[in-house]
Amino acid sequence: MDILSGKRIVLGVCGSIAAYKVAQFARDLALAGVQVDVILTEAAERFVGAATFQALTGRPVLTSMWALPEDGVVGHVALGTSADAVVVAPATANTIARIAAGLSDDLLTTTLLATRAPVLLAPAMNPQMYAHPATQTNLATLRARGYTIVEPGEGRMAEHVSGKGRLPEPFTLAGELRALLGRVHGPLRGRRVVVSAGGTREPIDPVRYVGNRASGQMGYELAAQARDLGAAVTLVSGPTALVAPAAITTVQVETALEMREALHAAVAGADILIMNAAVADFRPEAATEHKIKKQPGTTGITLTLVTNPDIIAGFAGHHDLFKVGFAAETDDLLANAQAKLARKGLDLIVANDAVASIGQPSIAMTLIDRDGMTSLARQPKAAAAATLLTEIVARYVRWKSR
Ligand code: C5P
Repeated sequence: MDILSGKRIVLGVCGSIAAYKVAQFARDLALAGVQVDVILTEAAERFVGAATFQALTGRPVLTSMWALPEDGVVGHVALGTSADAVVVAPATANTIARIAAGLSDDLLTTTLLATRAPVLLAPAMNPQMYAHPATQTNLATLRARGYTIVEPGEGRMAEHVSGKGRLPEPFTLAGELRALLGRVHGPLRGRRVVVSAGGTREPIDPVRYVGNRASGQMGYELAAQARDLGAAVTLVSGPTALVAPAAITTVQVETALEMREALHAAVAGADILIMNAAVADFRPEAATEHKIKKQPGTTGITLTLVTNPDIIAGFAGHHDLFKVGFAAETDDLLANAQAKLARKGLDLIVANDAVASIGQPSIAMTLIDRDGMTSLARQPKAAAAATLLTEIVARYVRWKSR
């Protein structure tokens, strides 16, 4: 179940060329089952018309305090007060200043002053305006008041200058909003979750490696779902073709040894470790400095592999960390998984058939802990991740109150 489904969001749009991106964002929210009430500032209407947002959200669009639909002024103070969150995107320097000063000189600022809902603000403006101490001071004020400020992106702006001030893409805004709602309502609010994902690559020479077929999809889904449940999430990822989820910290690594180091740093103070990565059990003893050449007449080369450290077993002494491991097996699935649960000092192990799951779009799983086994039927990985995380949270809560 998407955390956005059934939520009521007020979306304030200011006058910036980036307003065009927010039309897509409004559409994405509506498709996710959100009731989106758009408020346009006067300047916003010069960039994207009310008709666009009205068509995309299926809701009346509000532009002026003096031209409200029949429920009137009180109703639209109520709009903000009954919302699950207010999003301001793009937030211009001028509107940020007006909000910080506590002005209520238009419908958006009035709504913000009246609401007690959490506010997500996505600044977008010329890089010089963004960097100006006046804007930075106003943003610091809003942050101190509990607003969540989405960092603008860096790059080329519409007006042919480059710098920091770009509105993040709709995908990022939606991720930030999910994280915000999770922090308010989610069962993992206040918790820190670390997820590892993807396979590791163990270098043979500068261009070749020993690897595996892990796509990272399951781990990325789990990380995003944990974020939506309110956790502060660190994702430690081997190389994948996936886009890192928004509003989480992603650490990219390549080898098992790099992954171990990144995880050691990430688990300090964490509550849950979900070790989904397909860590290479072996690595070439030493990567050669130069590319290995094929010599004429040779029939082959021999690689000597050494055993990688078992990363999760190395956390066995972390008694405050709820540790979830995975067992992807081709034979004796449940017996092997059970043995790993004990050997690696895990609180839960998720067993799955390696051939039918690694690199595949769907997965069936069996959860094994000290209390017994639970089977989860085959589902697409996004849905399976949601089910699995619900099961993990339930067990974590029980374990925590033990
Ligand atoms: O022993 P096996 O590789 O099957 O164990 C799988 C579980 O152990 C997974 O959770 C995997 O992420 C973890 N693992 C690890 N360090 C390794 C190998 C596996 O943490 N070197």
